[in-house]
Amino acid sequence: MPRITIQTLQQMKAQGKKIAVLTAYDASFAAMLDDNGVDAYIVGDSLGMVIQGHTSTRAVSMDDMVYHSANVARGSKRTFVITDMPYQSAATPEQAVTNAQRLVDEGNAQMVKIEGGREQLVVIEALVAANIPVCGHLGLEPQSVTEPDGYKVQGRDADSAARIAEDARLLEQAGVQALVLECIPSSLGAQISSALSIPVIGIGAGVDCDGQVLVTYDMLGISRGHKAKFVRNFLAGQPDIDAAIRSYVDAVKNGTYPGPQHSYQ
Ligand code: KIV
Repeated sequence: MPRITIQTLQQMKAQGKKIAVLTAYDASFAAMLDDNGVDAYIVGDSLGMVIQGHTSTRAVSMDDMVYHSANVARGSKRTFVITDMPYQSAATPEQAVTNAQRLVDEGNAQMVKIEGGREQLVVIEALVAANIPVCGHLGLEPQSVTEPDGYKVQGRDADSAARIAEDARLLEQAGVQALVLECIPSSLGAQISSALSIPVIGIGAGVDCDGQVLVTYDMLGISRGHKAKFVRNFLAGQPDIDAAIRSYVDAVKNGTYPGPQHSYQ
């Protein structure tokens, strides 16, 4: 079976079909997600926490991302691979293009994800000009969080909501082909998803996004420490991990996850 492409995900949005996304960091999980109907992986820099034991994503290096992205790509045949640009890997447009090209060439990423809004437009335009497909990431941007209690819902007041919505529009205009929205009110997630023609994948952004993503270790109840409101343990009540993944995919596709109890107002 050929690998899913960004065109497949765009068609899914156009047809109103929900997109099920999970994080992956290694070949074995990649194969399981592949077998159970996940449409796209994010090889996320959340690996800094769930794999490496750091308290933030900032310690993750380019070499780490290349290594994990290559492992995921080797472990799978079908699922679309989106890989994070780690902290400070895109300080200049030239550095961003060099590093993103490594994720594509060595890490076999089909798309790179970069956090940030209007301040990243020059970098994003350089990536697009270099023919590197880009996914944006707005709302809560974990690489900007410096304190353990800094993981907060974004866009709750009118000014910050308008800024996130305008950033989303600017990113699409600059050539971004998909967007992750993290920890924002569900009404803002709905507004941005309907305003953009690119697929919008939510994590704590309400049920009306075009798709959903969770950190796989959160979705399986493996992660310890603070549990965000949007996290649901899909392994609970299921016989094994394969069934948990299928249950997540089904719930995303039929719109029963996230529910109001997983969403912010
Ligand atoms: O690093 C990560 O896991 C992410 C999530 C939004 C999926 O970026």
